[in-house]
Amino acid sequence: MTRTPLIAGNWKMYLNRTEAVELARSVAAASTGLTDREVMIAPSYLSLAAVKEAVADSPVRVAAQNVAWEEQGAFTGEVAPPMLQDVGVDMVILGHSERRHVFGEDNAMVNRRMQGALQFGLSPILCVGETLEEREQENTFSVVEEQLRQGLQDISADQMAQVVVAYEPVWAIGTGKTATKEQAQEVHAFIRSTLVTLYEKTLADSVRILYGGSVKPENIDSLMAQPDVDGALVGGAALQAESFARIINFT
Ligand code: PGA
Repeated sequence: MTRTPLIAGNWKMYLNRTEAVELARSVAAASTGLTDREVMIAPSYLSLAAVKEAVADSPVRVAAQNVAWEEQGAFTGEVAPPMLQDVGVDMVILGHSERRHVFGEDNAMVNRRMQGALQFGLSPILCVGETLEEREQENTFSVVEEQLRQGLQDISADQMAQVVVAYEPVWAIGTGKTATKEQAQEVHAFIRSTLVTLYEKTLADSVRILYGGSVKPENIDSLMAQPDVDGALVGGAALQAESFARIINFT
């Protein structure tokens, strides 16, 4: 089973439109000629259209950082799936730890967003991961399993083929403290075995599982060498052209 690696940059609430376009152009240049991997960037909603245009002649994919579940309606502050499609976006990050822990999104809401995204043809990256406290209490597997089970509730096998999973231990996000390659592989293998129970082996084997949490030029190669690490979701190091270019060009 070959899974095409995906290197995804999550720009969070950084960069204005001019800065975003400039960085997007650099990412497009750094991605030129890479056919054995996919590159994705997720700017703020306000920069999506401009960034999409800036990478139009490249294979770089553009994603949103969240999406609502309804086609339209009275949902102040939310963005609907067709609005993303309207600017050419076809991927979306869902259930990021900052959405869960800063903005109180629970598994049920993440699942609604998953269903909305898939219903309108957007490929979601479902983020899961334990807090430091949960890891110390040896609850990593149960927390991740619950996030997967609830996040993927009522998602069909056909829809699952469009889903990417990202394992992002909360204690590793933005802290400079990366999970070791062994810690990452252990949870990635657990995620894949959970997917086997939820779907079946061939499908589970085809799902890409990204690692996120302080991914840097210094650790990308050893993380990517793990059998169940199929890519990376990169925050801080994705905001600088040079470091992201190195990460894209992992060996
Ligand atoms: P980080 O963020 O690379 O800055 O740790 C990762 C993420 O939040 O997706």
